[in-house]
Amino acid sequence: EAPATVSPTGRPSGAGPELREQDGEWLTTAQGNRLYDTDHSLKSGARGPVLLQDHHLREKITHFDHERIPERVVHARGAAAHGVFEGYGNAAEVTRAGFLKAGVETPVFVRFSTVLGSRGSADTVRDTRGFATKFYTDEGTFDLVGNNIPVFFIQDAIKFPDVIHAGKPQPDREIPQAQSAHDTFWDFVTLHTEATHHTLWNMSDRGLPRSFRMMEGFGIHTFRLVNAEGGTTLAKFHWKPKLGVHSLLWEEAQLLGGLDPDFHRRDLADAIEAGAFPQWELGIQTFPDTPDQTFEGIDLLDPTNLVPEELAPVQPIGLLTLNANPTNYFAETEQVAFHPGHLVPGIDVTDDPLLTGRLFSYLDTQISRLGGPNFAQIPINRTHAPVNDMLRDGMHQTAVHAGVAAYRPNSLDGGCPFLAGADDNPYVEAPVTVPEASKVREAPETFADHFTQPRRFWRSMSPVEREHIVAAYTFELGKCYEQAIKERGLQVLANIDPDLCAPVAAGLGLPAPEPTVPIEDVDPSPALSQLGDSWPPE
Ligand code: HEM
Repeated sequence: EAPATVSPTGRPSGAGPELREQDGEWLTTAQGNRLYDTDHSLKSGARGPVLLQDHHLREKITHFDHERIPERVVHARGAAAHGVFEGYGNAAEVTRAGFLKAGVETPVFVRFSTVLGSRGSADTVRDTRGFATKFYTDEGTFDLVGNNIPVFFIQDAIKFPDVIHAGKPQPDREIPQAQSAHDTFWDFVTLHTEATHHTLWNMSDRGLPRSFRMMEGFGIHTFRLVNAEGGTTLAKFHWKPKLGVHSLLWEEAQLLGGLDPDFHRRDLADAIEAGAFPQWELGIQTFPDTPDQTFEGIDLLDPTNLVPEELAPVQPIGLLTLNANPTNYFAETEQVAFHPGHLVPGIDVTDDPLLTGRLFSYLDTQISRLGGPNFAQIPINRTHAPVNDMLRDGMHQTAVHAGVAAYRPNSLDGGCPFLAGADDNPYVEAPVTVPEASKVREAPETFADHFTQPRRFWRSMSPVEREHIVAAYTFELGKCYEQAIKERGLQVLANIDPDLCAPVAAGLGLPAPEPTVPIEDVDPSPALSQLGDSWPPE
């Protein structure tokens, strides 16, 4: 049997987070030398100069000087919790993923975040929320790195730096912090109209969640599931909160931003500490894996589209329970590294061009954020499956690898690992046919309709939700300095629905433009409304 890598503390890698002992009786230096004083520098006389030879002084201050690491380039502000996921077993027909089998319990770590603000920004701003889950399965780590909004701003990862440059605080004044009320944001989303759908969700109550515990989560992209016989099914992942979906009012969000900027992280930690463990069901929408990868005319490779739940119901396949707060924010919440390419047998990617770019970006950014290529050895990032990866050396290497041959096959070390055979459950990419085509830099025609799905969303809203959306656009667009951007914003709204454009135009004191696309009818999707059939209340 291939031996597992052993960490310096003697624990096999994959044993989960370990607490670094700080249990000595004496205060010491990092080298274990006992200290008799930590409040006074070594000096030549009580009022004389401080001596450079004071190792304790230099070690203490030098370590402090390096305590901060770069924050995430996006999703910098987050809060996280440990928990457990239990599979229901009903997904076996479509995927062979072991953690989805009936009764299998898998440890998880979930990090919620805002997207645009810095690490110290407020929780209740209008923004998308990240919902990233690390499943420490027996078959390796699976990360579901999603958001609380089921569609994304852009369709191709090559635009990600652009949309983030536009959404982050403007580079001249570094304002605003973590909200969309500024010229570059509206400049981008009105010039790149594929952003219309996501922006409309942001301007709805979904942009102001009441609590992380009351948010849906979405994998957004279409994934390819593979069953034990090799059969494939296309699928989208959903998280459904047991507490239901709830939002703050804009006024509540504003007050809380001042009274308690930590509102969401406090709410999550307090609930878990009180034993009110938040729960979500994981669900899937499934679609036949046809060569054109569309469903009911919707291109499943376009991440700005969703599939209405009325057309493809969400089938629950497991239960997530968050039941423990992190012990140390930095070690766990800050150092955790998610990656959409962390997959397990039975779950594969599709050719969604946004997803493909993500597969490159996360590892690349984490090498810089977490100081080199060995961050998989940080306790929170360690897989719970045995590791024999032949990866060696590098910054912050903490494993002491024995032997001389870090390659396979080799004839020198007993540690030469086996390659998995068909019966050993290796990760095998689904052998999907790639159509013959010439190289192009262009989007497919099926990515071109930017207004039908936003119109469906708008027309699915209850009257009070519509009022909130109108107020949000009026406020946020109203903060733009450039008149031309406001006018272009109104044009986008007219193309969604003149009924949305008219009140916003009135609020901005500008004329409402005529639509430049045909305003076709769409069937509303009640599942999109937070109030749904319960509006108006009895
Ligand atoms: C971080 C979601 C698109 C680059 C994150 C996080 C989430 C997320 C939830 C925070 C993870 C955490 O809590 O640590 C999404 C979703 C996307 C998307 C749902 C689209 C469907 C993209 C794209 C790129 C990208 C297209 C780049 C091409 C990054 C980077 C980070 C990040 C660089 C920081 C990662 C780190 O420092 O660990 N994303 N993202 N994302 N995302 Fe995305």
